[in-house]
Amino acid sequence: MFLKLKVRRQLGQDVWYQTFEVPYQEGMTFLSAFWWIKENIDNSFTFRHFCRAGICGTCTVQINGFPKLACKEQVLPYVLLGEPVVVEPLKNFEVIRDLVVDNEKVIRKMKELKLWISSDSSDVRIEAQISQKIESAADCILCCACQSYCPQVLESVYAGPLFFAKIYRFIEDPREKEKELRLNQAVQMGHLYHCLSCNKCNNVCPKEVEPATLIRRLMLYAVDNTPASP
Ligand code: SF4
Ligand code: SF4
Ligand code: FES
Repeated sequence: MFLKLKVRRQLGQDVWYQTFEVPYQEGMTFLSAFWWIKENIDNSFTFRHFCRAGICGTCTVQINGFPKLACKEQVLPYVLLGEPVVVEPLKNFEVIRDLVVDNEKVIRKMKELKLWISSDSSDVRIEAQISQKIESAADCILCCACQSYCPQVLESVYAGPLFFAKIYRFIEDPREKEKELRLNQAVQMGHLYHCLSCNKCNNVCPKEVEPATLIRRLMLYAVDNTPASP
Protein backbone atom coordinates (compact mmCIF):
# COMPACT_ATOMS: atom_id res chain seq x y z
CA MET A 1 0.00 0.00 0.00
CA PHE A 2 1.18 3.50 -0.84
CA LEU A 3 0.42 6.97 0.48
CA LYS A 4 0.12 9.41 -2.42
CA LEU A 5 1.10 12.93 -1.44
CA LYS A 6 0.78 16.12 -3.46
CA VAL A 7 3.04 18.53 -1.60
CA ARG A 8 3.27 22.28 -2.08
CA ARG A 9 6.92 23.18 -2.40
CA GLN A 10 8.39 26.67 -2.24
CA LEU A 11 11.89 28.00 -2.66
CA GLY A 12 12.08 31.80 -2.78
CA GLN A 13 9.46 32.94 -5.27
CA ASP A 14 9.20 29.53 -6.96
CA VAL A 15 6.11 27.54 -6.00
CA TRP A 16 5.20 24.11 -7.35
CA TYR A 17 3.30 20.96 -6.35
CA GLN A 18 5.24 17.72 -6.28
CA THR A 19 3.77 14.24 -6.09
CA PHE A 20 5.34 11.48 -3.98
CA GLU A 21 4.42 7.86 -3.35
CA VAL A 22 5.40 6.69 0.11
CA PRO A 23 5.26 2.97 1.02
CA TYR A 24 2.92 2.54 3.98
CA GLN A 25 4.33 1.25 7.26
CA GLU A 26 2.18 0.32 10.25
CA GLY A 27 1.53 3.31 12.54
CA MET A 28 2.91 5.78 10.00
CA THR A 29 2.14 9.45 10.64
CA PHE A 30 2.46 12.28 8.14
CA LEU A 31 5.68 13.34 9.87
CA SER A 32 7.14 9.84 9.33
CA ALA A 33 6.08 10.05 5.68
CA PHE A 34 7.83 13.44 5.35
CA TRP A 35 11.00 11.91 6.77
CA TRP A 36 10.75 8.96 4.37
CA ILE A 37 10.62 11.42 1.46
CA LYS A 38 13.55 13.40 2.84
CA GLU A 39 15.70 10.30 3.38
CA ASN A 40 14.77 8.43 0.21
CA ILE A 41 13.74 10.90 -2.49
CA ASP A 42 14.59 14.54 -1.87
CA ASN A 43 16.72 15.72 1.04
CA SER A 44 15.91 19.35 0.26
CA PHE A 45 12.28 18.81 1.38
CA THR A 46 11.84 21.11 4.38
CA PHE A 47 9.40 20.84 7.29
CA ARG A 48 9.47 21.65 10.99
CA HIS A 49 9.05 19.42 14.03
CA PHE A 50 10.48 18.86 17.46
CA CYS A 51 8.78 16.60 20.01
CA ARG A 52 7.06 14.06 17.68
CA ALA A 53 4.49 13.63 20.46
CA GLY A 54 1.82 16.31 19.94
CA ILE A 55 3.25 18.55 22.64
CA CYS A 56 5.45 21.24 21.09
CA GLY A 57 3.02 22.48 18.40
CA THR A 58 5.72 23.00 15.76
CA CYS A 59 4.69 20.48 13.08
CA THR A 60 1.26 21.86 12.05
CA VAL A 61 0.56 21.72 8.31
CA GLN A 62 -2.53 21.72 6.11
CA ILE A 63 -3.70 18.26 5.14
CA ASN A 64 -6.45 18.31 2.52
CA GLY A 65 -7.19 21.89 3.60
CA PHE A 66 -7.35 21.28 7.36
CA PRO A 67 -4.61 22.21 9.84
CA LYS A 68 -3.28 19.07 11.55
CA LEU A 69 -0.32 18.07 13.69
CA ALA A 70 1.82 16.06 11.26
CA CYS A 71 3.30 13.99 14.11
CA LYS A 72 -0.14 12.85 15.30
CA GLU A 73 -2.11 12.47 12.08
CA GLN A 74 -2.13 8.84 10.96
CA VAL A 75 -1.82 8.22 7.24
CA LEU A 76 -3.80 4.95 7.16
CA PRO A 77 -7.30 6.44 6.54
CA TYR A 78 -5.88 8.46 3.64
CA VAL A 79 -4.05 5.41 2.23
CA LEU A 80 -7.30 3.45 2.27
CA LEU A 81 -9.08 6.22 0.36
CA GLY A 82 -6.44 5.81 -2.33
CA GLU A 83 -6.56 9.43 -3.50
CA PRO A 84 -3.65 11.88 -3.44
CA VAL A 85 -3.50 13.88 -0.21
CA VAL A 86 -2.70 17.57 -0.58
CA VAL A 87 -0.16 18.83 1.96
CA GLU A 88 0.46 22.57 2.27
CA PRO A 89 1.94 25.04 4.75
CA LEU A 90 -0.40 26.83 7.18
CA LYS A 91 -2.59 29.56 5.72
CA ASN A 92 -2.44 33.13 7.09
CA PHE A 93 1.34 32.81 7.54
CA GLU A 94 4.24 33.70 5.27
CA VAL A 95 6.09 30.69 3.88
CA ILE A 96 9.82 30.50 4.56
CA ARG A 97 10.38 27.31 2.59
CA ASP A 98 8.21 24.30 1.64
CA LEU A 99 6.08 23.53 4.73
CA VAL A 100 7.89 25.91 7.11
CA VAL A 101 6.08 29.15 7.90
CA ASP A 102 7.18 32.31 9.66
CA ASN A 103 5.49 32.48 13.08
CA GLU A 104 7.58 35.43 14.25
CA LYS A 105 4.49 37.69 14.32
CA VAL A 106 2.80 35.38 16.82
CA ILE A 107 5.88 35.33 19.06
CA ARG A 108 6.21 39.13 18.83
CA LYS A 109 2.57 39.66 19.75
CA MET A 110 2.88 37.30 22.73
CA LYS A 111 5.80 39.37 24.00
CA GLU A 112 3.95 42.62 23.31
CA LEU A 113 0.92 41.43 25.31
CA LYS A 114 3.17 39.98 28.04
CA LEU A 115 1.32 36.67 27.93
CA TRP A 116 2.65 35.29 31.15
CA ILE A 117 1.47 35.43 34.75
CA SER A 118 2.37 38.71 36.44
CA SER A 119 2.74 37.11 39.90
CA ASP A 120 3.51 33.65 41.22
CA SER A 121 2.09 31.68 44.11
CA SER A 122 2.90 28.42 45.81
CA ASP A 123 -0.44 28.30 47.66
CA VAL A 124 -1.84 24.80 47.00
CA ARG A 125 -5.46 26.02 47.37
CA ILE A 126 -4.87 28.46 44.51
CA GLU A 127 -3.21 25.70 42.45
CA ALA A 128 -6.37 23.58 42.92
CA GLN A 129 -8.62 26.40 41.65
CA ILE A 130 -6.32 26.88 38.66
CA SER A 131 -6.63 23.32 37.44
CA GLN A 132 -10.45 23.41 37.56
CA LYS A 133 -11.01 26.82 35.99
CA ILE A 134 -8.55 26.93 33.16
CA GLU A 135 -7.98 23.30 32.32
CA SER A 136 -8.76 23.49 28.62
CA ALA A 137 -7.15 26.92 27.98
CA ALA A 138 -3.94 25.76 29.66
CA ASP A 139 -3.72 22.82 27.22
CA CYS A 140 -2.91 25.18 24.32
CA ILE A 141 0.38 24.16 22.68
CA LEU A 142 0.61 27.29 20.44
CA CYS A 143 0.36 25.16 17.32
CA CYS A 144 -1.32 28.01 15.36
CA ALA A 145 -3.91 25.67 13.78
CA CYS A 146 -6.75 27.94 14.95
CA GLN A 147 -4.92 31.08 13.90
CA SER A 148 -4.36 29.72 10.39
CA TYR A 149 -7.98 28.63 9.97
CA CYS A 150 -9.72 31.73 11.36
CA PRO A 151 -11.22 33.85 8.54
CA GLN A 152 -11.11 36.96 10.70
CA VAL A 153 -7.33 36.86 11.20
CA LEU A 154 -7.02 38.37 7.73
CA GLU A 155 -8.35 41.56 9.34
CA SER A 156 -5.10 42.99 10.69
CA VAL A 157 -6.51 44.43 13.95
CA TYR A 158 -8.10 41.15 15.06
CA ALA A 159 -5.83 39.31 17.50
CA GLY A 160 -7.15 35.84 16.67
CA PRO A 161 -8.26 32.74 18.60
CA LEU A 162 -4.82 31.75 19.89
CA PHE A 163 -4.46 35.05 21.75
CA PHE A 164 -8.01 35.08 23.12
CA ALA A 165 -7.51 31.55 24.49
CA LYS A 166 -4.37 32.80 26.26
CA ILE A 167 -6.01 35.98 27.56
CA TYR A 168 -8.97 33.95 28.86
CA ARG A 169 -6.51 31.75 30.73
CA PHE A 170 -5.07 34.79 32.52
CA ILE A 171 -8.45 36.30 33.29
CA GLU A 172 -9.49 33.06 34.99
CA ASP A 173 -6.14 32.42 36.68
CA PRO A 174 -6.39 33.41 40.36
CA ARG A 175 -2.66 34.28 40.39
CA GLU A 176 -3.09 36.95 37.71
CA LYS A 177 -3.41 40.42 39.23
CA GLU A 178 -3.88 42.44 36.02
CA LYS A 179 -7.46 41.46 35.11
CA GLU A 180 -8.36 44.93 33.85
CA LEU A 181 -5.31 44.99 31.59
CA ARG A 182 -6.20 41.53 30.21
CA LEU A 183 -9.76 42.66 29.48
CA ASN A 184 -8.41 45.72 27.70
CA GLN A 185 -6.07 43.52 25.67
CA ALA A 186 -9.02 41.38 24.56
CA VAL A 187 -11.56 44.11 23.81
CA GLN A 188 -9.60 47.23 22.81
CA MET A 189 -6.30 45.85 21.51
CA GLY A 190 -7.52 42.49 20.19
CA HIS A 191 -10.98 43.52 18.91
CA LEU A 192 -12.72 40.60 20.58
CA TYR A 193 -16.14 41.57 19.22
CA HIS A 194 -15.00 41.13 15.63
CA CYS A 195 -15.17 37.36 16.16
CA LEU A 196 -17.70 35.81 13.76
CA SER A 197 -18.52 33.00 16.18
CA CYS A 198 -18.12 30.59 13.27
CA ASN A 199 -16.51 27.90 15.49
CA LYS A 200 -13.88 27.06 12.86
CA CYS A 201 -11.14 27.39 15.49
CA ASN A 202 -12.97 24.93 17.78
CA ASN A 203 -13.16 22.40 14.97
CA VAL A 204 -9.45 22.36 14.15
CA CYS A 205 -7.83 22.68 17.58
CA PRO A 206 -5.96 19.40 18.22
CA LYS A 207 -6.01 19.91 22.00
CA GLU A 208 -9.74 20.66 22.42
CA VAL A 209 -9.01 24.10 23.83
CA GLU A 210 -12.17 25.38 22.10
CA PRO A 211 -11.05 28.97 21.55
CA ALA A 212 -14.46 30.06 20.17
CA THR A 213 -16.13 28.89 23.38
CA LEU A 214 -13.53 30.79 25.45
CA ILE A 215 -14.12 33.89 23.29
CA ARG A 216 -17.84 33.76 24.10
CA ARG A 217 -16.97 33.44 27.80
CA LEU A 218 -14.63 36.42 27.48
CA MET A 219 -17.49 38.43 25.94
CA LEU A 220 -19.73 37.61 28.91
CA TYR A 221 -16.90 38.50 31.29
CA ALA A 222 -16.48 41.83 29.46
CA VAL A 223 -20.19 42.63 29.81
CA ASP A 224 -20.11 41.85 33.56
CA ASN A 225 -16.90 43.79 34.20
CA THR A 226 -17.19 46.91 32.05
CA PRO A 227 -18.46 49.90 34.05
CA ALA A 228 -21.69 51.40 32.66
CA SER A 229 -21.19 54.80 30.96
CA PRO A 230 -22.57 57.75 32.96
S1 SF4 B 1 -15.04 31.67 16.05
FE1 SF4 B 1 -14.02 33.67 15.94
S2 SF4 B 1 -11.89 33.24 16.44
FE2 SF4 B 1 -12.83 31.26 15.94
S3 SF4 B 1 -12.43 30.98 13.76
FE3 SF4 B 1 -14.43 31.99 13.90
S4 SF4 B 1 -13.96 34.21 13.77
FE4 SF4 B 1 -12.04 33.14 14.22
S1 SF4 C 1 -5.99 27.04 20.83
FE1 SF4 C 1 -5.70 24.98 19.99
S2 SF4 C 1 -5.41 25.31 17.81
FE2 SF4 C 1 -5.09 27.27 18.81
S3 SF4 C 1 -2.88 27.39 19.14
FE3 SF4 C 1 -3.79 26.53 21.01
S4 SF4 C 1 -3.71 24.32 20.74
FE4 SF4 C 1 -3.36 25.20 18.73
S1 FES D 1 6.43 17.59 16.57
FE1 FES D 1 5.73 18.49 18.43
S2 FES D 1 3.57 18.63 18.13
FE2 FES D 1 4.29 17.57 16.38
